[in-house]
Amino acid sequence: MAIDRTLCIVKPDAVAAGNTGNILAFLEGKGARFRAMKLVQLNRAQAEGFYAEHKGRGFFGELIEFMTSGPCLLVMLEGDNVQHDYRNVWMGQTDPAQAAEGTLRKRFAESKGKNAVHGSDSPEAAARELAYFFSGCFDVV
Ligand code: CMP
Repeated sequence: MAIDRTLCIVKPDAVAAGNTGNILAFLEGKGARFRAMKLVQLNRAQAEGFYAEHKGRGFFGELIEFMTSGPCLLVMLEGDNVQHDYRNVWMGQTDPAQAAEGTLRKRFAESKGKNAVHGSDSPEAAARELAYFFSGCFDVV
């Protein structure tokens, strides 16, 4: 098992619905540790930069509108195998209709777009995404 880090975003739908605390409690219950957190409202440039790989896809405009629509919580998670387990086991499929019982998206997501949480999809993506939001933040990145 590798002790690693990954990015969780509690998205604007989940923050607005008052589910931030429930999502953090779920993650702590799984044994993840919080290394850094920021509650922010992303601007267009920040959201477009973060999701640059999706530029040109049909849902890109909707994704940027949504991600800039209200505050979201950026969380640096740390723990044994946390990138893999958060993304592949705890979070659930992008579409909540396909998400397994007991996952965050099964419990908190509304739709493919308003799907409560983000998780980095590989160790490389985790390093890039954490640097994107936490670079220069104390001693963490
Ligand atoms: P996320 O894991 O944050 O990364 C890309 C996001 O694009 C994804 O979560 C979804 O919220 C969003 N997305 C993917 N497919 C669609 C879709 N068909 N319609 C709207 N949003 C989508």
